[in-house]
Amino acid sequence: MDHQIKNLLEYTNDYNKSIIKPDQFWENIANSFHWRKRWEKTLNWNFDTPKIEWFKNAKLNLTENIFERLLSTHRNKTAIIWEPNDPEMSPIHISYGELYKQTCKFANAMKAQGIHKGDRVIIYMPMVPEATVAMLACARIGAIHSVVFAGFSASALADRINDCQAKMVLTSDGNFRGNKKIPVKSVVDEAITKTDTVEKVIVLKRTGENVKMHTERDLWWKEALEGQSEENIAEEMDSEDLLFILYTSGSTGKPKGVVHTNAGYMIYTYYSFVNVFQYKEDDIYWCTADIGWITGHSYIVYGPLLAGATTLMFEGIPTYPHPGRFWEIIEKYKVNQFYTAPTAIRALQVHGTDHVEKFDLSSLKVIGSVGEPINEEAWHWYHEHIGKGRCPLVDTWWQTETGGIMISPLAGITPNKPAHASLPLPGVQPVIVDTDGKELIGNNVEGNLCIKFPWPSMIRTTYGDHKRCKETYFSTYKGMYFTGDGVKRDHDGYLRILGRVDDVINVSGHRMGTAEVENAIDEHSDVIESAVVGFPHEIKGQGIYAFAICDNSKKSNEILQEEIKQLVRKIIGPIAKPEQVQIVSGLPKTRSGKIMRRILRKVASKDLSNLGDISTLLNPEIVEQIIKGAGLK
Ligand code: PRX
Repeated sequence: MDHQIKNLLEYTNDYNKSIIKPDQFWENIANSFHWRKRWEKTLNWNFDTPKIEWFKNAKLNLTENIFERLLSTHRNKTAIIWEPNDPEMSPIHISYGELYKQTCKFANAMKAQGIHKGDRVIIYMPMVPEATVAMLACARIGAIHSVVFAGFSASALADRINDCQAKMVLTSDGNFRGNKKIPVKSVVDEAITKTDTVEKVIVLKRTGENVKMHTERDLWWKEALEGQSEENIAEEMDSEDLLFILYTSGSTGKPKGVVHTNAGYMIYTYYSFVNVFQYKEDDIYWCTADIGWITGHSYIVYGPLLAGATTLMFEGIPTYPHPGRFWEIIEKYKVNQFYTAPTAIRALQVHGTDHVEKFDLSSLKVIGSVGEPINEEAWHWYHEHIGKGRCPLVDTWWQTETGGIMISPLAGITPNKPAHASLPLPGVQPVIVDTDGKELIGNNVEGNLCIKFPWPSMIRTTYGDHKRCKETYFSTYKGMYFTGDGVKRDHDGYLRILGRVDDVINVSGHRMGTAEVENAIDEHSDVIESAVVGFPHEIKGQGIYAFAICDNSKKSNEILQEEIKQLVRKIIGPIAKPEQVQIVSGLPKTRSGKIMRRILRKVASKDLSNLGDISTLLNPEIVEQIIKGAGLK
């Protein structure tokens, strides 16, 4: 693999080069790619505006760098192995040659339905190869995809369609999820009633569900492909043309559309993929994420395919039909690199090692973790029982906004330290700052994690609202990108991510904004005010704990609690459903009327130590009542 670091010395040298001469460092990597026109300037940046341009004025098409660049050597190599939800169903192997044809054909189909360069296309689909084809086809014709996790509700989907003014939705009749069939098309239908930009919906037949097709608007995937050519001349894109928008939650307001652009994202996902996982030509690589999240974008689809890798895509869930399904799949395909989330590890750990030992995991060379801090117990279990103590474990820290892995061991190259994301990748310049923005130098320091220099796959803007991008990421600490995470540099100089320092809750590796959940709860006609906090959860990392003031004269607390949970599920989706709802008569507030979340977090965590001074509250008496109501006294 080009540009793959081979040992610790090379890592140190490359890291230093990337800091001293970043332009040269990234140009050297970019030189291995196919450009229609070379860039005029490697990097142009300003973190105040913010404005970030990589490979300025170059022209390319990302998919030409997967297909045209690789087909002469990879035509018959398997690009995607697809393992269906039901293990009795046949898997599918798609070669690079076949993936190319399918991408071109679908690209032509979308064009025939009126999609042009710059149009936004929502992908709301199960984990099937067609979803990958759809993403690539968008990239091919210059349409901007926005994949929405198919577990989101109709109103969450409608919000995203409206925010990006999508012209097309790609979906399926239904989804298989374990032993359940989940309707999908009907969710899209409901969402579209709240929008007015969608002109066409293309529907993949997956579960055979009976669905209503709107004649003018909807057509089946198969119909859309009829008569379309397997060749397509790729659209010429500028480096900084939008590749995709991916919505993610923040501490305030509705989810924001994180924007990634063509060239920088392409270079960085390739580079980070080959280095972190140390992928070798004949390896089988498997990332268990869903394509609805950034991990699926960067490390199921773009990074691996740009590297000519074989990437496994799994439709199902880890516990169906048995809790050894992951390990069975590793044995079946002789997976070499396996990348999953701590939540999955913790959930499977509960089922014991019998389910692991039944399967041969000797093919594994690298195991990885992403999405949330991995606690030491889970780290050791994963390392010992899955990695058999011999596979490097890459704990990869990054975000939707960073586009690619930022801090992580490089498998077998840089040292592993349990529960530590450890060291930055070349090109990444993390800094730890105190609350005043002062950089904390040296080891044994703890503070907020910022990045002080641009990297190619960084967020460019939040779609349709550049001010929000500036305020969220570039205003807290001047001249730096603020991640929202706390971090510690230990006595050896390794970084350990401590979790979010803002009002974002990380539930099973999924980001939820407290404000977003509160807004959903406030839709309940009996709710007067609510406050949501995270609390430590054994499996999910964090769970959602909601406090709600209700006009509860008519309904019992039990009924209100259940209604609130169901409402959040309906408005956002099952992943946002609160674990606990406590009906309260008031919320602790400062004299300026701000909710004191610190106290609520303590109650939710059942930890009443160091409650701090509550005498300055507007309503100190409420704290005692809330503590009692939570059953803590
Ligand atoms: O808090 C960090 C946590 O997940 C957040 C980013 O979430 P999202 O944009 O959904 O992307 C998840 C997949 C990249 C971060 O701000 N996070 C992610 N990876 C780690 C992590 N926390 C600790 N360790 C990690 N390895």
